[in-house]
Amino acid sequence: MRRPMVAGNWKMHGTRASVAELINGLSHLVLPSGVDVAVFPPCLHINQVIDGLQGQSISVGAQNSAVESLQGALTGEIAPSQLVDAGCSLVLVGHSERRQIMGERDEMLIRKFAAAQACGLIPVLCVGETLEQREAGKTLEVVGRQLGSIIEELGVGAFAKAIIAYEPVWAIGTGLTASPQQAQDVHAAIRAQLAAENSEVAQGVRLLYGGSVKAANAVELFGMPDIDGGLIGGASLNADEFGAICRAAGN
Ligand code: PGA
Repeated sequence: MRRPMVAGNWKMHGTRASVAELINGLSHLVLPSGVDVAVFPPCLHINQVIDGLQGQSISVGAQNSAVESLQGALTGEIAPSQLVDAGCSLVLVGHSERRQIMGERDEMLIRKFAAAQACGLIPVLCVGETLEQREAGKTLEVVGRQLGSIIEELGVGAFAKAIIAYEPVWAIGTGLTASPQQAQDVHAAIRAQLAAENSEVAQGVRLLYGGSVKAANAVELFGMPDIDGGLIGGASLNADEFGAICRAAGN
């Protein structure tokens, strides 16, 4: 059985004061014991969050990390080894906002994924199609290529210690959610692509859905057989809403 996970991606939100408030809210949540819970604050606030969540069963990750695993001369970047030193256990790789706005391409993401794993971080590989690609019937081709680039370079075994988040770009921050069946279809295709190489890895890897997940739609989404939890943006900035989504994953 795969253990469900709910992860909050705070994106570029927060001040020291609002983060303190959110930490306080998270500390008071009653979280289901069968669910892994994680948050991804902006790098600037990672130390504050790790200190503030001491003793809570919430993991902390970064939203991005460098293409090199160890610290060195790379202005403006943060090495996976530095994230480990700070107490992080996870890192997002290839969120669509970074692919689209920062121009991150598969070749760079392969390096980031490998560098993170080399330090013992669990990469959360984000994949997903744009509305245009979906309407052109290219969803599985696009997602298959994003996933395939990592499999080709690093081998399917890399996913024994990784997580995948399917996030249709058209559903992120728009209030439009993929229907449970639309999401399930893509998740099943992702698992089948992995299973073609290694069925054990395919059965073990957690596939999270992301894109306008809220407490109100989480139960239905998480009820699908290949959806193992969620990557939550906007709704993760509200501790009570986030807690309700975590409980939905525990059902
Ligand atoms: P959203 O973002 O929940 O605000 O749609 C999800 C994400 O980008 O991870």
